[in-house]
Amino acid sequence: MNDSKDERFTPSVQSDNAADGQENTLQFEENPIPRWWKWCFIATIAFAPPYLFWHHCGVEGRSMVGRYEVALAANLQLQFGEMGELTADRENVVKYLYEPSWLKVGKAVFKANCVSCHGKDGGGLVGPNLCDDSYKNVKDIGDILKVLQKGANAGAMPAWEGRLSVNEIVLVSSYVASMRGSQPAIAKPAQGREIDPWPAAPIADEAESEQSEDQEMIEGSSS
Ligand code: HEC
Repeated sequence: MNDSKDERFTPSVQSDNAADGQENTLQFEENPIPRWWKWCFIATIAFAPPYLFWHHCGVEGRSMVGRYEVALAANLQLQFGEMGELTADRENVVKYLYEPSWLKVGKAVFKANCVSCHGKDGGGLVGPNLCDDSYKNVKDIGDILKVLQKGANAGAMPAWEGRLSVNEIVLVSSYVASMRGSQPAIAKPAQGREIDPWPAAPIADEAESEQSEDQEMIEGSSS
């Protein structure tokens, strides 16, 4: 017998040690892969394409990304409750400017995404002061929405479309508008041009009754 490992596994090699006169032949064909194993192997191959199709092309929410999106949508649904999915238009920015409870949601979005460049209370850091009456890219309240969606100054102000939900963009736009006229602790000097006051609250709005300090602040600034 050979004690060298390599030689032991060399197929069809006769042992050098012929003393016992035995043919010490080891052939791989004598150790075939078990049939059941082969069939398992073939089964996995057969299973893969339909599964791949089922996973990626079937009903929403089967893939990991799909499940994430479904969960995200459910979460938004919960968060925005009766609001549903807003359209990103000027009317909605004006409408929610006068709904203090929703401004709080906008404020949360601002805290999470904007303070690094615009300061804790909007006084401006890298980005301009959002509390004064002067703006670089905004002439009308609807322009806030556009700046948020598309960004400004070649990405110095990032585009948020696709990174924030439409509802978040609308509500943070309203919140940005609401900051106008407030007195931030650290205020960057005015940049751009002074613009007209925001439009008044839409009439016959059910939220009009719950006007708060936010509202007074806005009115104070536009007078
Ligand atoms: C990476 C830094 C950065 C972040 C983060 C950022 N901004 Fe800006 N933002 C800027 C800069 C810089 C400008 C000025 C662009 C220019 O010079 O035209 C700007 C401009 C703006 C303007 C227009 C102001 C004007 O005077 O025209 C608004 C409104 C605004 N940002 C809101 C937001 C909101 C809301 C968020 C969070 C969702 C945000 N920004 C996040 C850097 C940033």
